[in-house]
Amino acid sequence: MSQSLVTMSYIVATILFILSLSGLSNQETSRRGNYFGMLGMAIAIFATVLSGAVTSYAILFSALAVGGLIGLFAAKKVEMTQMPELVAIMHSLVGMAAVLVGYANFMDPSTNLTGVEKTIHEVEIYLGILIGAVTFSGSVIAFGKLSEKISGKPLLLPARHWLNLGLLLGTVYLGYVFLHQTENGGGLYPLLGMAVLALLFGIHMVMAIGGADMPVVVSMLNSYSGWAASATGFMLNNDLLIVTGALVGSSGAILSYIMCRAMNRHFLSVIAGGFGTASGGEAAVVEGEVHPIDAEETARLLLDAKNIMIIPGYGMAVAQAQHTVNEITKFLRDKGKKVGFGIHPVAGRMPGHMNVLLAEAKVPYDIVYEMDEINEDWDKVDVSIVIGANDIVNPSALDDPNSPIAGMPVLECWKGDTTIVMKRSMASGYAGVGNPLFVKDNTRMLFGDANKMLQEVLKALKG
Ligand code: TAP
Repeated sequence: MSQSLVTMSYIVATILFILSLSGLSNQETSRRGNYFGMLGMAIAIFATVLSGAVTSYAILFSALAVGGLIGLFAAKKVEMTQMPELVAIMHSLVGMAAVLVGYANFMDPSTNLTGVEKTIHEVEIYLGILIGAVTFSGSVIAFGKLSEKISGKPLLLPARHWLNLGLLLGTVYLGYVFLHQTENGGGLYPLLGMAVLALLFGIHMVMAIGGADMPVVVSMLNSYSGWAASATGFMLNNDLLIVTGALVGSSGAILSYIMCRAMNRHFLSVIAGGFGTASGGEAAVVEGEVHPIDAEETARLLLDAKNIMIIPGYGMAVAQAQHTVNEITKFLRDKGKKVGFGIHPVAGRMPGHMNVLLAEAKVPYDIVYEMDEINEDWDKVDVSIVIGANDIVNPSALDDPNSPIAGMPVLECWKGDTTIVMKRSMASGYAGVGNPLFVKDNTRMLFGDANKMLQEVLKALKG
């Protein structure tokens, strides 16, 4: 393939990636966005394979086959609830790739750059390995936290800010030594030393972040993986990789900003770790009477209501209750009831988690509302049903300054007439804090697996 054809293909792929991102920003166009992304990636791989940059097709196709099979197997096997862990571990692979490409580039005997070009290339290598190593170790820890293999509690070392500063200064110093030593053909040791510091920084940064702030970490590592890919693009002199990485990096950064705003956090406070946990006192203990309810009474309340709001959370994903929820929604709307869905930006375990589930169950998009659209209107709601949600409807986020989720806006469903909370027990949610909503006078608890209980409710509604 001629170089100009390769460049053309790269431009087409870039345009398709941009169209893909803009498609993904809206539920109605997201399917189209995915197709654009797939087509863009196919063109990108095709053009790269035929670009003449490949020295061994046997190695390339073996790597494509192995990687493709692992991806196919993982995507088929993974449960919807494990998707955030899969995404986190995939980010770690991008980080690892950047590190390996960095070392390969450093050791490549065929590079014979001189002067400024040589220095720029070395800085690219240094930064590529730095970003890659932070992304790698941070993502592995995020995977551990999301899969609950590592505790969600923040690790708060006594001098953690100093430690971070020390690690940062260490990498700057090693960068100086690296550039100095490469003049005489050396530089491997500072490069290795920096990678160790960067790995430690990634581990420490994510370990220090509390469970409640994990949404920001997920989007932040998404952004880092983009910058790591971009750095790899610089090292490999591949424009498409630079642009694609920058698209991922900047969209991840925007998502981190949206997540921070949704949780009323400052990005730097989240990164510094332990936000909301250093406020001194203990989070309030929840005391009061619980009012249980059964499926029949839930059905009766729903039939009596005019305006119903459904709040899905992580438990709906665990129970895979979205299809039954859709059936109940259809039934109630056919009976002339106004039914809406209130979606908290951090409901579930990944951005857009609930929207994906509801779209899969074919819930109409126009009755799915974002938190800001409905949080003023709870006094008009007769019954709200909280399906496997907990932290996102916790009033202590607003009332208890010592709570780890203090300051996070929540869906204030308790301001409606009656709230029905569906969950299996009184257990706390992801952030590990008790929820006073469960003991409010106008709250009824419907205990059991969300899907099983919703099927009983549907039966009672139809009966
Ligand atoms: P959570 O606070 O985690 O609460 C989920 C509730 O679902 C649990 O209390 C659990 O109670 C219940 N549940 C689990 N399985 C169930 C089942 N089969 N049937 C019925 N109920 C079930 O979820 P949330 O309210 O969606 O809040 C999300 C949390 O995750 C936030 O703290 C957020 O910061 C964090 N987080 C979010 C993200 C993103 S990006 N969305 C990423 C990482 C972390 P029982 O055990 O009693 O049933």
